[in-house]
Amino acid sequence: MANVEESVAVELTVNGRSHRVEVAPRWSLADVLRHRLGLSGTHVGCEQGACGACTVLLDGEPIRSCLMFAVQAEGHQITTIEGVTPDQGLSPLQSAFHDHHALQCGFCTPGMVLTADALLARKPEATESEIREALSGNLCRCTGYQFIVDAVLAARQGGDA
Ligand code: FES
Ligand code: FES
Repeated sequence: MANVEESVAVELTVNGRSHRVEVAPRWSLADVLRHRLGLSGTHVGCEQGACGACTVLLDGEPIRSCLMFAVQAEGHQITTIEGVTPDQGLSPLQSAFHDHHALQCGFCTPGMVLTADALLARKPEATESEIREALSGNLCRCTGYQFIVDAVLAARQGGDA
């Protein structure tokens, strides 16, 4: 972490709430979400844009938060997994992941859920191939993907595949 003198103030809107934080210009959005805002649901794996574990939504679109500087996110709406999780229980998509055994260790899950959320917001009746295409940038080392695809299919408008 950088010296205090090197920090700049940034205003981040995360899950509908505004936060003013002091950050070093080189800090990634992922690190600021996790370490300054306590939003540890954003996971960090490869830190080089390959795994998708750090996926958050920027103005509704999935992005790699390890590849974006926090200062670049000013003026945008950021959504993390905490922002799509109800105060009680799970969202319908999260319930579908649970019901279809679409996670094991859970490391990839926040990124998978947010990526699928964005797809279904854009295409509520997405096909299996569209789901596979949308999730192709999110790596899972546990599930073999089929159960994840099954969960997203089940969560589509119209229910189970
Ligand atoms: S941690 Fe960002 S893509 Fe892997
Ligand atoms: S559930 Fe373990 S990496 Fe996907």
